Amino acid sequence: MKKAGPIGVFDSGYGGLTVLKALTTQLPAYDYLYLGDNARVPYGTRSFETVYQYTLECVEALFAQGCQLVILACNTASAKALRSIQQNDLPKIAPQRRVLGVIRPTTEEAGLLTKSGHLGVLGTSGTVLSNSYPIEIAKFYPELTVSQEACPMWVPLVENNEHLGPGADYFLAKHLEALLQKDPAIDAVILGCTHYPLLQSRLEELSKGKIKFIAQGALVAKKLELYLRRHPEIAALCSKSGSRSFLTTDDARIFEEKARLFYGETVVARHIDLSSISFSPDA
Ligand code: DGL
Repeated sequence: MKKAGPIGVFDSGYGGLTVLKALTTQLPAYDYLYLGDNARVPYGTRSFETVYQYTLECVEALFAQGCQLVILACNTASAKALRSIQQNDLPKIAPQRRVLGVIRPTTEEAGLLTKSGHLGVLGTSGTVLSNSYPIEIAKFYPELTVSQEACPMWVPLVENNEHLGPGADYFLAKHLEALLQKDPAIDAVILGCTHYPLLQSRLEELSKGKIKFIAQGALVAKKLELYLRRHPEIAALCSKSGSRSFLTTDDARIFEEKARLFYGETVVARHIDLSSISFSPDA
């Protein structure tokens, strides 16, 4: 029997902390180990191959720290790397461990979010170009009309804490208007990037309350709870002493300063050097 470990939560940077917050609220008893690849953020503008390689390295680093279950709390990584890792890598390196993403749990609920049947998705260029949201939504709700818009400036605005200033409004309005021009009947918009919940209140104001913006943290947490109930063998591999630990590939002090904005509380972080991690495949 394998030793139980913390639930690994991975993001390219700070955005996944919004998902971690929802997970710890919904499922507080578990241990969580967060890894932010802050040294290499953003992933949103990088190629498929690069996002896949970076994500796999981070998943292996979390496995090496004892995680048996890892959540890719990053839409870009979920869109570009999850399937390859699940289908090609896990069977070879860790057949009993699990890696889950954030797109599927969000799209499973998509039909419940819109009344008009016209749904919008905002995300990074990588997520939008992958077409993952429309493809996944069509599997559950083929009758929905889905339009997407890439917002390449939004992650840098949030990362630099400039997202609520007047300069940010220009870019928020620009992409919101572009999305609504594609389909004026949209009444609900999925915030398909883990950084975007920090923009939610401003987006609601800009749309004059006419559009519902959906942050995915709570949806992911709800689905994880159901998943662990359906898979007691995986739940048994997730330790439960209520601990939260934080790793970053960049400077730990900078991570601690910025994390509060996303996580809502002070954290203590440790630097991790990915080049020094070696994960030996499970037997
Ligand atoms: N947090 C990532 C996501 O959800 C975006 C940040 C990045 O571009 O690395 O897509």
